[in-house]
Amino acid sequence: MRDHGPSGSAEREAQPELVLGIETSCDETAAAVVADGRRSLSSVVSSQVELHAEFGGVVPEIAGRAHLTRIVPVVRAALAEAGISDPARQLAAVAATTGPGLVGALLVGVASAKALSVAWGLPFVGVNHLEGHLYASLLEDPTFDPPMVVLLASGGHTLLIHVVAPGAYRLLGQTIDDAAGEAYDKVARMLGLGYPGGPPLDRLAATGDPTIVRFPRGLVDEPGCDLSFSGLKTSVHRWVRAHPGAAVADVAAAFQEAVVDALALKLRRAAALVDVPAVCLAGGVAANSGLRARVKADADADRRRCFLPSPAMCTDNAAMVAAAAWWRWRSDGPTSLDAPADPNLRLGFEAEPVGKAR
Ligand code: KG4
Ligand code: ZN
Repeated sequence: MRDHGPSGSAEREAQPELVLGIETSCDETAAAVVADGRRSLSSVVSSQVELHAEFGGVVPEIAGRAHLTRIVPVVRAALAEAGISDPARQLAAVAATTGPGLVGALLVGVASAKALSVAWGLPFVGVNHLEGHLYASLLEDPTFDPPMVVLLASGGHTLLIHVVAPGAYRLLGQTIDDAAGEAYDKVARMLGLGYPGGPPLDRLAATGDPTIVRFPRGLVDEPGCDLSFSGLKTSVHRWVRAHPGAAVADVAAAFQEAVVDALALKLRRAAALVDVPAVCLAGGVAANSGLRARVKADADADRRRCFLPSPAMCTDNAAMVAAAAWWRWRSDGPTSLDAPADPNLRLGFEAEPVGKAR
């Protein structure tokens, strides 16, 4: 194998370093090529939504099998779109999400990336999926840099993270129960909107009257930056049962207002706590129209920069994985080929939660 260090020869430094990223942690099979951690040359996402929709959620066995059949064509498409004909010479590294996620799904991406790295004589870089989401904004705006506070809200996580510098994070707050995306998916199912529930619920909410009921905003009256969504979900369930004639659009609007209010309020509080110049959204729920409008308005009022990634960069993709991999590789070097897929992989927070000072 050739030199695996991120600081190669002068000749190498003059060339952009291209990383192939692979993402298979849940129900998207994705591959992308990113230059120097900041410029996406290709990003191919094969969604499995149609395979899982009839079951109302992701079925792990189906996800794993679908990744297996899709991974090779998806990687080929990402290489072709980026104009890569000789990966061993043109690429600098091969990366994959190693966790958190569904183990049978993660394994497909991790094994594929390791096999390609060995075949091409390139370093392998393992990436934490959550760290990937944090890099989506850096990919889309070359002028956007830490320090910043990121609200990372997806189907499995809701975190408020102070990105001090690339790779240096402090946890400011998190959900103490359900993730925001999970609440969207569960309430959407309750309202008969199908899976995944976020996008249809978001569209419907725009047409409803949010004032018909005020649903609870979990923990907003508590100090600190933690969040809670399970009480809201139960409250919607009870209210819908007690008001069978209520318009679904109005319930959707009232629910969305409660989620957006809680998320935006805690993001604003977190940004003030560490006094950062910029805030940013990440994860699938960051595609939400109500959340985007509210966070932008709050940031404008507080005179903070605000970055809202494009909806395709909010949901799972491999460009964010390739971007995070480039930064990780520069700071830590390559990942051992023995590194396992870890469904419970945690993101390292270098400092004690600032929220402890609450
Ligand atoms: O980040 P992501 O693609 O996958 C995970 O890592 O979980 O996030 C998926 C989640 C789902 O719960 C989905 O319902 C939610 O993001 N979501 C939305 C919207 N688009 C996707 N939630 C609210 N509004 C949306 N427009
Ligand atoms: Zn995700």
